[in-house]
Amino acid sequence: MTSSGYDAGTAAAYREAREIPREGLPAWRQAIAEEAGLAPGMTVLDVGAGTGAFATAFHDWFGVRVVAVEPAVAMRELIPAHPAVEVREGRAEALPVADASADAAWLGSVVHHLDDLAAAARELRRALRPGAPVLIRNSFPGRSERDLRIRFFPETAESVAGYPTVDEVTTAFATAGFRRTALRALPQQSAPTLADFARRLRREADTKLRALDDAAYARGLARLHAAASASPEEPATSWMDLLVLR
Ligand SMILES: C[S@@+](CC[C@H](N)C(=O)[O-])C[C@H]1O[C@@H](n2cnc3c(N)ncnc32)[C@H](O)[C@@H]1O
Repeated sequence: MTSSGYDAGTAAAYREAREIPREGLPAWRQAIAEEAGLAPGMTVLDVGAGTGAFATAFHDWFGVRVVAVEPAVAMRELIPAHPAVEVREGRAEALPVADASADAAWLGSVVHHLDDLAAAARELRRALRPGAPVLIRNSFPGRSERDLRIRFFPETAESVAGYPTVDEVTTAFATAGFRRTALRALPQQSAPTLADFARRLRREADTKLRALDDAAYARGLARLHAAASASPEEPATSWMDLLVLR
């Protein structure tokens, strides 16, 4: 799906269902702090910023200025106005920023949307200061079995199988002079309980769930509700990868 897949309805559903509550991200905050060394006065490029949840989190966590680049107007319009977050229309393959103007780049659930990873890597090499990290948060083929969507909707693994692999991303970025410095699987708490997770779920907000037929979606929902009844206290913990290139 291209960015044009995010219209006003899917953008609103994305905000409601896919933004991870800030309190569910301590492992991500810690890992980003360790990998990126961000400090007030620095600039982070949030590429494919969506509805801006991470853009504002980067500012609140690290005191940085954020340039949020997002091609879909419906997503951009939902990024909260914030003096430290500058929103720009643009794409990873043609970043609307000056050369060597950023201290880190963040791509959250974006690499599988890119048509030309090598072009994006070249643009990031141009936009980042030498040695600055590219922080990629994504599901990757062969590493996503602890994603809650895959646990309850196992057919979504077919979508992830078509995403770029860690090696493909690493190779594309190597052509632009980056090398991989970290790959970490990290937990996030998507909701306090599985029942809360089920209540927040919006099929239209997720390309993986949209790819399922109605019967597969209904089977997944039934599995999720059964697990929520069997383990009412279980937090809705999902895992994704942080891939870092410099
Ligand atoms: C799954 S959303 C992730 C949004 C946000 N990063 C987050 O983690 O909540 C993917 C986003 O990538 C954007 N996108 C699609 N193609 C893109 C491109 N070529 N360059 C930059 N962003 C793109 C979409 O418009 C969408 O907002």
